[in-house]
Amino acid sequence: MMHTFLKGLSPRQFLARHWQKAPLFVPAAFPDFHDLVTPADLMQLASRDEVESRLVVERAGIWSVQRGPLFPRDFRGLKGSRWSLLVQGVDQWLPEGKALLQAFSFIPHARLDDLMVSFAPAGGGVGPHFDSYDVFLLQGLGHKRWQISGQRDRTLLPGMPLRILQRFRAEAEWTAGRGDLLYLPPQYAHYGVALDDCLTYSIGFRAPSAQELVSHFLAYLEEQLQVEGMYEDPDLTVPRHPGAIGTRMVEKVEEMLAAIRWGRAEVADFLGRYLTEPKPHVFFEAPPRPLGRSRFAGLAQRRGIVLSLKSLMLLHHTTVFINGEAVRVSPLLRRWLMPLADDRRLDDLGEAPPALFDLLYDWYRAGYVMLARPASPLASRRAALARRATGAKESGGRLTGAPTGRGRRG
Ligand code: SIN
Ligand code: CO
Repeated sequence: MMHTFLKGLSPRQFLARHWQKAPLFVPAAFPDFHDLVTPADLMQLASRDEVESRLVVERAGIWSVQRGPLFPRDFRGLKGSRWSLLVQGVDQWLPEGKALLQAFSFIPHARLDDLMVSFAPAGGGVGPHFDSYDVFLLQGLGHKRWQISGQRDRTLLPGMPLRILQRFRAEAEWTAGRGDLLYLPPQYAHYGVALDDCLTYSIGFRAPSAQELVSHFLAYLEEQLQVEGMYEDPDLTVPRHPGAIGTRMVEKVEEMLAAIRWGRAEVADFLGRYLTEPKPHVFFEAPPRPLGRSRFAGLAQRRGIVLSLKSLMLLHHTTVFINGEAVRVSPLLRRWLMPLADDRRLDDLGEAPPALFDLLYDWYRAGYVMLARPASPLASRRAALARRATGAKESGGRLTGAPTGRGRRG
């Protein structure tokens, strides 16, 4: 894939010089960038239960946050205040959103979080803050003034419902217009203000804290561990102080705990499950009238397979992780499945082994994968005609997919 949007840097140079190290502003990174949504589309997404959205409002220095679902009445009465609507996980609803993320696949999918889209009218923003994300901020509609700062002072305004820096000292400033891109490493202070009606696409790569990783790993261990035996003390003697915990008891428990072991295999298994675990609001829907296995295999062979927009899939050696589940496969199947994890689609299934179709069929029944749309020019012309005939609007059509969301930045 071509990566022309990094200001003449190759992905390798970008990673060496900027990734997790230094911000980069790239004017005209995506020169022909078309918005994936209109502000009205974004508001419509925000009205869904399964979509995570927030409305951030500032009135005279007082910030408030309202969590979605958000309805037209929530946007009335905002005159005179500065506000911004943030919608998380847009890539789970729009194929175009997922396609935009694929442009960043010089960074492993294991680091990717989601596509967040914000809309703000003139003056709107979410205040000066920092995130625990590597983030690419791509400007669509309108203009946003970005100020950034490498300041160490991370003191927050007390008593606010979102993290706002108390003292923000801008060190650099740009006005981003359509197609301009700003990369920021985690913890880098930034402050974006809309200069007019403004859509911003935020491609976020989560940097989990050590504390978060450790506590999730411990929860994983708890689920996995099968420990034998029970506390035993046939050697018990009469204590001098019945109210004291004896040293012998501490030693016995210490020995029991020392039996908890883990190695790289457990760490990899944990990571795969953890990183592909669907976010809390995400539900998969089985196809309403599933095809039989052989009909499915026949169509899959002809049309190919795509991951559903909500699916998360990663591979490690011969373990496939999909939506929090782990499946061990043969090296042969791994070769077949790698492109599905890399590109989210599998095209040439002509020679695929039956075991692959068994697995794909299970995932199809679970709503994890779907048959690819027929891609013939005739079929897409037919689809366009049908759209015109039914009067379906492009943007309306895009937003009719199935539902979800997950938490964090801004
Ligand atoms: C925005 O899109 O304005 C919010 C992005 C951010 O500042 O993190
Ligand atoms: Co931010």
